[in-house]
Amino acid sequence: MGRILRAEETLDPSFSPPKLVRRDTELALLRKRYRDSLGKGSAYHQLLTGGIGSGKTAIAHRLSAELEKGGKLGGLAIQPVYVNCWRRSNDRTVLHHLLRSVGVSLPDRGYALAEMLDVFEQGIRKSPRHLLVVLDEVSALVRQETKLVYLLTRAPEVNLGSISLFLVASEDVLPYLDAASRSSFGVTHRLQLKGYGREDLTELLRYRASLALAPGTYPDEVLDQIAGLAEGTADARFAMEVLANAARLAEEAGAEAIEPEHVRAAKGSGYPTITESKLEELAEAPLLILLALARSLRGPKARVPTEKVRATYASVAEEFGASAVSRVTFWRAMRELEREGLVQVEPTGSGQSSRVGMDEVPASFLETLIHERVSKRTASRKP
Ligand SMILES: Nc1ncnc2c1ncn2[C@@H]1O[C@H](COP(=O)(O)OP(=O)(O)OP(=O)(O)O)[C@@H](O)[C@H]1O
Ligand SMILES: [Mg+2]
Repeated sequence: MGRILRAEETLDPSFSPPKLVRRDTELALLRKRYRDSLGKGSAYHQLLTGGIGSGKTAIAHRLSAELEKGGKLGGLAIQPVYVNCWRRSNDRTVLHHLLRSVGVSLPDRGYALAEMLDVFEQGIRKSPRHLLVVLDEVSALVRQETKLVYLLTRAPEVNLGSISLFLVASEDVLPYLDAASRSSFGVTHRLQLKGYGREDLTELLRYRASLALAPGTYPDEVLDQIAGLAEGTADARFAMEVLANAARLAEEAGAEAIEPEHVRAAKGSGYPTITESKLEELAEAPLLILLALARSLRGPKARVPTEKVRATYASVAEEFGASAVSRVTFWRAMRELEREGLVQVEPTGSGQSSRVGMDEVPASFLETLIHERVSKRTASRKP
């Protein structure tokens, strides 16, 4: 067991956490819809959509577990069956999976869909229950004109017993469905997840870190920094990947806790070329300001006061024999760097001085890059 990583596997994308952060409303709504309907003996169908990493699969697992644990409804127990359609992406393969889940099986070949459904029905009849069929990544299935979704939503009419569907997709799949199936997914049968905002992501990371990492090794500063990196995509999976990588790097470096520099390094590969071409285009002043920022960020902080950067900049300019630009020009250069995506200027309340950070690449790496460039430029200027 490492000093920082205590249960690394809980940060794995396949790990299903016992609790979900900031999805209580959605879970409660879904639970109620299913329970109300199943309690009255009718099946219920739901479509859940949302962006990548918005927690759709996590919600599907939680909802399944909660409904199953909730006990019998209308005299019948609830059995969830999870199928990822991406990997089993046609009616027959999905149906084979469903058959096994009710304890029957058929050879892979030689049976028509209708015959397979008959056997499925017999399987359910052997021990009556509510089946909750979760079809995750269902786009893969519906894009190829599935008949299965239609047949399953019509289960009561075709004597298939109590089958409820929970369809999960990152896009709206209704346009791909036939009109009859579509009618099962009216407005109260659809839910579109809002993407996670920065604060949601910080909370989510705090919770997942509490499961995976030793106490005291994941400062708020660092969680917020990672949340800021993932904010654009609102992707919880990406945020957790950065957290896991940063934790690994911190541990390898023998650090006591994750530091902002580990997060920058953890953000991923592929940055050198992007950053280098951006650096080529910068004039001397912004380049020196960036160098000053990189040096200011050596400490344990993800953000430093802009005034501190300006002071460091003055001495950096002197070091390279350049004359420091005025306060106004300094700010203009800072805004330019921000537009280029090289720095992040934090908006602050009135009276406070602003703070600035650089989360793209390790500060030490940036420092080396800029140092090379500035030295080259100053050398070529000298006679
Ligand atoms: N509210 C949450 N609380 C805790 N962990 C979460 C939450 N939402 C998502 N996660 C975690 O973030 C990761 C991504 O979530 P999930 O796989 O559910 O996203 P998704 O919407 O299914 O993405 P995709 O469209 O790529 O399938 C998972 O590891 C999941 O456990
Ligand atoms: Mg998913």
